[in-house]
Amino acid sequence: MNKAFIEKHLSPGSRGDLGEIILFEEIDSTNAESLRLLKAGRTGSWIVLAQSQTAGRGRSGRSWSSYPGAGIYLSLVRRFTLAADALQSLSLVTAISLHAALTALGVQNLQLKWPNDVLHEKRKLAGILLELHKMGSTLHIVFGVGINLDLPEHAVKEIGRPVTDLNSLTAKAVDTEELIALFINALLPNVIHFEVAGFSPFQDDWNRLDCYINHDIVIQNGSQRIIGKSLGVDSSGAQLMQTATGRQTIIGGEIFPSLRERVAGSPT
Ligand code: BTN
Repeated sequence: MNKAFIEKHLSPGSRGDLGEIILFEEIDSTNAESLRLLKAGRTGSWIVLAQSQTAGRGRSGRSWSSYPGAGIYLSLVRRFTLAADALQSLSLVTAISLHAALTALGVQNLQLKWPNDVLHEKRKLAGILLELHKMGSTLHIVFGVGINLDLPEHAVKEIGRPVTDLNSLTAKAVDTEELIALFINALLPNVIHFEVAGFSPFQDDWNRLDCYINHDIVIQNGSQRIIGKSLGVDSSGAQLMQTATGRQTIIGGEIFPSLRERVAGSPT
């Protein structure tokens, strides 16, 4: 990983918006390091990158497999004046931005899974974990992104869920520095747009890319389980579902394909 190569591909706008790129050979978690820097009083915008993580964090308290060379482990920190409840839909905007960067590099047939996974044929390629830091009235968001590059066989077994990596999807090795820069170039303008206009300009993009729209799904939110058909997202980024008792709007949780779909051959 080379900072200068990332900087070379950044747009003038991104270069202006972004502070330092901090690179570690190994760290517990780029999100945890970003939060430590925020707690120590650092403000503004920066990126933390690591070649490997010893305690990579995933959503819902899971860990994120982070062997050296197996993935990109990145956290982008940015200051906000948004209300904290905007966080969920901002994570959808992050997934849309990552999808755009990967597609621009020639990775084809990628889809999104609510609220923020990037999938290829229902196998997870990338995950996103947004974390919030508030001190007084100052709010920062840590955009944590993990992209699978070249997962060793033992990591695939450990993860135990359907996953894929860029190495399996592209004939030519992806330029990781270029991918990181393309992602930042997509994310920062989208975030500015989101701050002004909210999620609604992104609703159609999401629904076009949504892997499970019009499919039977199960959403698990803590101990709550909702079964129905996905109707995509509404203009606030909430998941819409047609259930036996009517239409429901869901703001948190994780999607699983319905048992019927799994039996029909979905690997998830
Ligand atoms: C998910 O569970 O899908 C979210 C995974 C997010 C992983 C990334 S890797 C870089 C950043 N640092 C972390 O500890 N987690 C995020």
